[in-house]
Amino acid sequence: MSDDIRLKDAPMLTIDLEHVYPFLPEQEVLKMESEIIKSQDLLKGKSGPGKDFLGWVDIPESTPQELIENIINVSMDLQGMTDTLVVIGIGGSYLGSRAVIEALHPPFRLPEDPRPEILFAGHHLAPDYLTHLLLYLKDKSYAIVVISKSGTTTEPAVAFRFLKDHLYNKYGAHEAAKRIIAITDEKKGALRSLCETEGYRSFVIPDDVGGRFSVLTPAGLLPLAVQGVNIRSLLKGASEMKRHSEQTAFNTNPVLLYAAVRNALYRKGKTMEVLVNYHPCLHYFSEWWKQLFGESEGKEGKGIFPASVDFTTDLHSLGQYLQQGRRVMFETTIAPKQDRENIQIPYDDQNLDDLNYLAGKEVGMINRMAQLGTILAHVEGDVPNISIEFETINEQSLGQLIYFFEVSCAVSGYTFGINPFDQPGVEAYKRNMFALLEKPGYEESTRRLKAQAK
Ligand code: PA5
Repeated sequence: MSDDIRLKDAPMLTIDLEHVYPFLPEQEVLKMESEIIKSQDLLKGKSGPGKDFLGWVDIPESTPQELIENIINVSMDLQGMTDTLVVIGIGGSYLGSRAVIEALHPPFRLPEDPRPEILFAGHHLAPDYLTHLLLYLKDKSYAIVVISKSGTTTEPAVAFRFLKDHLYNKYGAHEAAKRIIAITDEKKGALRSLCETEGYRSFVIPDDVGGRFSVLTPAGLLPLAVQGVNIRSLLKGASEMKRHSEQTAFNTNPVLLYAAVRNALYRKGKTMEVLVNYHPCLHYFSEWWKQLFGESEGKEGKGIFPASVDFTTDLHSLGQYLQQGRRVMFETTIAPKQDRENIQIPYDDQNLDDLNYLAGKEVGMINRMAQLGTILAHVEGDVPNISIEFETINEQSLGQLIYFFEVSCAVSGYTFGINPFDQPGVEAYKRNMFALLEKPGYEESTRRLKAQAK
């Protein structure tokens, strides 16, 4: 069990549909009940498409204490031996941990911060990034957490080849092997074989958990623990949301209502969803959300296109389009009810900037007025708005939010009539890339593509 009895339940995340009802009357949302419950039953009964990839459903309550302790012990060991941690992974193998780390950490790193600096690699193929990373690591004491469920994904494999060589040259094979932790499949894949031949410590991504649903497995938990995140609180938040989503009737169940409204809006031509935040530390949470929904729902010619914006920054770029461009989108705003820190606008004798009308007011309050003003303007401009509020940005709330989106994504995907747990479309670019790179086994495609390119 991952529940820690010393942790109290956090107030539950809420969904507000007030700014959806002008476009989709409440009655129409309530009419979705039987369809949504059918989808929820497919998930609960493990009888829908992709049923072999539902291991994530029980993770919040079934993660063994022994695994959590093992993760924490390895994380303390890494903290003790390094000033820098490089996390290698792409897609679901890095977005979850990055989302939580960036949400929780202060935006500027102070010199006295005891946590290792965290860097990411293997999430693209840009040569300048890798070149500069290797230069940057020259004088750092660092360790690598390499994450790949398949163990064969090109981007992280390329980055790992460079970083492994760098680490071996810097420390010698014996010490370097202690500084590499692999998180991969229990038995299969090149990374698993490497662990065995080189003696790396390792953790397992369970066979029945797909990458984008893996943030609460060691793939997310180990980097988070190294960064001092309370992983027990994160799991606790997820298990609170699990209970809530399973025990609450449709008309007050945030998970089911979110899935219902998305599907109903889509049927009315709202084919794009924009996830909105007013806290830039949630930027990577939105990246994680986009992967979760984009890879899960976008198939068979169906699905809502997931986009995201950081407000108020993007009000000065995409805000114009949102207000007056094509009317195909709806917004989902995620916002904490309480700011973690606040700061008051100072009074200025000269008032040359005309800001004294705000003197003494908190920046957090001004941000909230920007949020309310934007929602009202966008609703006026025909953009429905779903509001999701949670207590504050901390581990427990993020755990709730993660599990909320995971289950609603699965239920929503089943309601679309697709398998939310596969990603056949991702293979198309890989096939072409391998063929163009003349990878053995792709000879036929190589000939075809080269003829096309002439
Ligand atoms: O959600 C998914 O399954 C994908 O986005 C994967 O996480 C991503 O492709 C990385 O795969 P792997 O962990 O096998 O390297």
